[in-house]
Amino acid sequence: MGVEGLATGYASKWGVDTEKATLAALLHDLLKAESKSSLRKTLEAQTDFALDAEDFDHPQAWHGMAAAVVGRRDLGIADAEVLEAAAWHTTGTPGLGDVGLVLYIADFLEPTRSFEGVEALRRELLALPPRKAALRVSEAKFESLRMEGKKPHGRTIRLRDWLTETTT
Ligand SMILES: [Fe+2]
Repeated sequence: MGVEGLATGYASKWGVDTEKATLAALLHDLLKAESKSSLRKTLEAQTDFALDAEDFDHPQAWHGMAAAVVGRRDLGIADAEVLEAAAWHTTGTPGLGDVGLVLYIADFLEPTRSFEGVEALRRELLALPPRKAALRVSEAKFESLRMEGKKPHGRTIRLRDWLTETTT
């Protein structure tokens, strides 16, 4: 619900469809508590998204992709922007639409996050257009992964490269 409030706020500020942003925010962590084996089964059986070996190597991102599959299949959500937003909220992916960017940003900055500088980053991003704000978030993600000694997902790298190329 924290992500929902933030996503709706950013969407309204940036002129992105707030209903889609709200629905994507409500859907994205629906399967967060599901077992990894169940999520993996859902992903192996689906054809909605072209997943690669790296996607299967990152179980922390499975709940979003599986939520998109379940959202379409069981909840009747047909909107491709809402579904891609849920699918890629953890890693991002190049070419992500504005609803997806809003959710990617809101998920990183939601109210329970308490990393140093989060308040200032929330305010700073409101003054930027969505792609620039998403670029700032991807840079902040790289920094936090670096501090944890982890490597970013290839989709996150490709998102950052795409955002760099398409924002001036
Ligand atoms: Fe999540």
